[in-house]
Amino acid sequence: MKVKKAIIPAAGFGTRFLPATKASPKEMIPIVDKPTLQYIVEEAIEAGIEDILIVTGRHKRSIEDHFDKSIELELSLEKSGKDELLKMVRDISDMVRIHYIRQKEAKGLGHAILCGKPFIGNEPFAVLLGDDVVDSKTPCIKQLMDVYEEKQGTILGVQEVKTEDTSKYGIVDGLEDSDKIRKVKNLVEKPDPKDAPSNVAILGRYIITPQIFDILETTKPGKGGEIQLTDALKELAKRENMYSYIFDGKRYDVGNKMGYLEATIDFALKRDEFKSDLIDFMKKKIEDNK
Ligand code: UTP
Repeated sequence: MKVKKAIIPAAGFGTRFLPATKASPKEMIPIVDKPTLQYIVEEAIEAGIEDILIVTGRHKRSIEDHFDKSIELELSLEKSGKDELLKMVRDISDMVRIHYIRQKEAKGLGHAILCGKPFIGNEPFAVLLGDDVVDSKTPCIKQLMDVYEEKQGTILGVQEVKTEDTSKYGIVDGLEDSDKIRKVKNLVEKPDPKDAPSNVAILGRYIITPQIFDILETTKPGKGGEIQLTDALKELAKRENMYSYIFDGKRYDVGNKMGYLEATIDFALKRDEFKSDLIDFMKKKIEDNK
């Protein structure tokens, strides 16, 4: 079965990015001039996803407004002949079919995914975390979709992380299959480095089979008192084949202030209009701070 639907969970509190996230979703914080969430929606569209469900929470209005039509703005841009900006604004609202569901309480990523059960039905689906941006030639989620076509099982997008960082991620214990694909034996949510079975971490991209929903319905709160997706995936790995796949690309955790700063600089450097001025500015800053 082809993967045609995606869930983007965007209902977390974003406590690592306070105070910005007190009243605004972290997924709407711009990297240069585009909200993080738009990069993620564009990745899904480029991969051929046809319907996207965004799981939102309180303070969600700006997310819905961003992907909606903006009649007054369009009229004003039309009147003033700003055709390029008008096209940019229209393109956003014409992008793809976007649906919304509200997670009434932030009970964890697993619970956010469970909110998508009626939307997904009985199909495999993609998950793209709303605060993980991946810069890659082939969209990261497309790479996972291609592996799914071959393996027909749940695929976890992974990369190696520093050993001291295992406590921030779901960690995979796997058996080598190819260079990049491993059959998942077990998963551990945010282990201490001394207890981690490896340093292979799940980094915000998944293709999941619909059997996960039955498991999520009975998954008890785990680390941090939240219903953890990793705990449900661990159970799913006991029931059916699951694979991790080392994707190509640079991943930024923009829910983290340092990750956000790195993404902002890297994405600005990719733009001709900013590149040389930004490099001059940074050279000066380095000199000033020596
Ligand atoms: P994170 O753990 O990075 O998000 O969840 P968070 O809880 O907002 O972050 P901090 O630790 O408080 O800063 C990964 C993704 O899952 C979503 C988040 O919005 C984020 O995109 N999420 C998390 C939900 O949708 N619901 C939840 O209950 C928890």
